Amino acid sequence: GKVAVVYGGFSAEREISLISGNAVHKALIDAGVDAHKVDPKEDGLNAITEQGFHRVWNALHGRGGEDGVIQGFLELNNISYTGSGVMASAITMDKLRTKLLWSAQNLPVAKHRMVRTGELALDEAQDLLSELNGCVMVKPIREGSSVGMARADSPELLQQAVAEASKFDDEIMLEQWIKGEEYTVAILNGKALPSIRVMTPHTFYDFKAKYNSKTTEYHCPSGLSANEEAELAVISEKAFRSLDCFGWGRVDFMRDTTTSEWLLLEVNTVPGMTESSLVPKAAKVKGISFKELVLKVLDTSVA
Ligand code: DAL
Ligand code: MG
Repeated sequence: GKVAVVYGGFSAEREISLISGNAVHKALIDAGVDAHKVDPKEDGLNAITEQGFHRVWNALHGRGGEDGVIQGFLELNNISYTGSGVMASAITMDKLRTKLLWSAQNLPVAKHRMVRTGELALDEAQDLLSELNGCVMVKPIREGSSVGMARADSPELLQQAVAEASKFDDEIMLEQWIKGEEYTVAILNGKALPSIRVMTPHTFYDFKAKYNSKTTEYHCPSGLSANEEAELAVISEKAFRSLDCFGWGRVDFMRDTTTSEWLLLEVNTVPGMTESSLVPKAAKVKGISFKELVLKVLDTSVA
């Protein structure tokens, strides 16, 4: 039947989703699939329900698209869709609740605190910093692509960073700064693909380093030993399953330089599918072309 590639939407990651969706749509057309693009912002959601689509290839990133909201809408309309269901999508969009659930299952995460938007007094900022080793990564709890994120190592910078993050969410996570290396593991049909090491000269892997940088390096194979690679695959698959994620996704990690410990950052249930995106790179190393990847993800839209 007809497939709707749902893309764009209303989130802060709209522009990235447009790129992902266009690439996915082109691959489906190349593969002979009857695929049509639907942008909830331009076309409205009725375009999905009234045009006889049987399946949705969900290419929406961020809130409204990756957080269970559209998944619930599709469930109610009996339209199957790619990737995780309502609950797993809602949890994984939320970096704080994700961490709480992983901690409860003894999966490794960095120390963190939550603050709500509004005034963060200087002495509170100082206390929070002291509790978190003096340096933190500030993240809106429900964002993607590093939108609204900043590093802070003084109470003044923390206040600024929280104010900036507050533009995107009313709950802000302070995560103890991890001095280490960044890795990511793509999951396809519940199984880990080869890990990727991301290296950037930026302070962290920010929006620019992700989508608009000549200096970001991607290494896949990542340079881990076979044992380390296997260990990372086990943690990734556990982390994915433990939140009831389904089909495909990407689990992001830091590796602490001092302790060599793996620390889970988050799961993306609709990872980027742009030119510079990570899941297509890992698939390629496994001999899976972009087109094949898009078709395998389509197969995750079980009724
Ligand atoms: N949130 C972006 C799209 C990613 O994880 O790739
Ligand atoms: Mg993300």
